[in-house]
Amino acid sequence: MFIDTHCHLTDKQFQKDIEKVLAFSEQLGVKFFVTSGFDLDSSIKAVEFASLHKNVFATIGIYPEHACLADEKTFAKLEELAKNKKVVGIGEIGLQFTDKAPAKEVQIKVFERQIDLAFDLQKPIVIHCREAMGICLETLEKKRDKLVYGGTMHCFSGSRESALRVLKLGLNISVGGVSTFKNATNLKEALSNVPLERIVLETDCPYLAPHPYRGQRNSPAFLPTIAENLAKILGKDASEVEKVTSQNALKLFGLEG
Ligand code: NI
Repeated sequence: MFIDTHCHLTDKQFQKDIEKVLAFSEQLGVKFFVTSGFDLDSSIKAVEFASLHKNVFATIGIYPEHACLADEKTFAKLEELAKNKKVVGIGEIGLQFTDKAPAKEVQIKVFERQIDLAFDLQKPIVIHCREAMGICLETLEKKRDKLVYGGTMHCFSGSRESALRVLKLGLNISVGGVSTFKNATNLKEALSNVPLERIVLETDCPYLAPHPYRGQRNSPAFLPTIAENLAKILGKDASEVEKVTSQNALKLFGLEG
């Protein structure tokens, strides 16, 4: 059994054939899916979609690119939405210090506010961190006491040192398609030092398809490809990677079919 701990099943790219995509993924052993929101609208959609599918769960949150739109009203709505039993975490939330992203201070405030929210709701967090690893880790370290329900560093692509800091915070490393890319030498080296007991798998579909499907629409059906590649990186059997990462995901998100 595989578990896709981070995907976007309500994305436009899946509009026409999501039921087929899910059925095909299930045939390949993917039994649970955690579909993620990134703003209020997509969070509502994720919860609605999860409500209609027994083996789909949702995380809800405001992603850094939309941080400007988040105010106390937004957080109150998230809190209300989190009452739904299918909501298993707060995410994706985090920091992204790219050119067009909102001001750093705004992003950090919204990130911290949602870490607090997750703690109050007793749920794990799913962290999005792009070109912001240093400050992201500092923020998490500052909020260490609020991380008792755990979380994942979604689509982890940092260094060995960053991986160690994530692990020290009690968070899991989420491994996706980027780890299969030919030029991901440093990431592969970093992952080779992470205990399997602290890793979960994700696709982030429809984005970031693994090698050799890079550039195509990604799907949960590519999760076994990511697992096989991770097994090579860790020098372990693919079946062990499948089993342990699924146990980790079940435990972290408390999934039940
Ligand atoms: Ni995502």
